[in-house]
Amino acid sequence: MKTLNDLFEHQLKDLYSAEVQLIEVLPDIVEHANDKRLKQAIENHLEETKEQKNRIKNICNKLDISPSGETCQAMKGLINEAKHFLEEVEDDEVMDVGLIAEIQRVQHYEISGYGSAVRFAKELGYRQIAKTLQETLNEEYDADNTLEKLAETRLNKKAIGGNS
Ligand SMILES: [Fe+2]
Repeated sequence: MKTLNDLFEHQLKDLYSAEVQLIEVLPDIVEHANDKRLKQAIENHLEETKEQKNRIKNICNKLDISPSGETCQAMKGLINEAKHFLEEVEDDEVMDVGLIAEIQRVQHYEISGYGSAVRFAKELGYRQIAKTLQETLNEEYDADNTLEKLAETRLNKKAIGGNS
């Protein structure tokens, strides 16, 4: 890797691998979620993620590079952690709260990845590509906010209802 362009390509491949891995694991996570709104939020994000994967594929086509060939080790680690969590939890509410935490970790990772990718694209003068990546970045922020709100709603409920 010698140029910013090389770095940008690497970043795209990394993000592509991250999205591919997420598409594989999210259906399993949806199954484990108990709260209806949480289930819906994860399902929505799964659909978004499929579109995000396509976006990177299209960008790579434009740049005449292959999106595949790299494994995002960070996402692999985050997913392994989430899978361990799924196996260990026995309480429905703990499951939901924990799932939110696990997915938010993923979201924050993607937000930083797409944030860098948008900056690189701008610096390289790829205006349209930067716009497309920004679209995904916004979706990642929105997904994170939705989860944050679900977590807060639960805390509020707990404050009103006492224990549980
Ligand atoms: Fe994503």
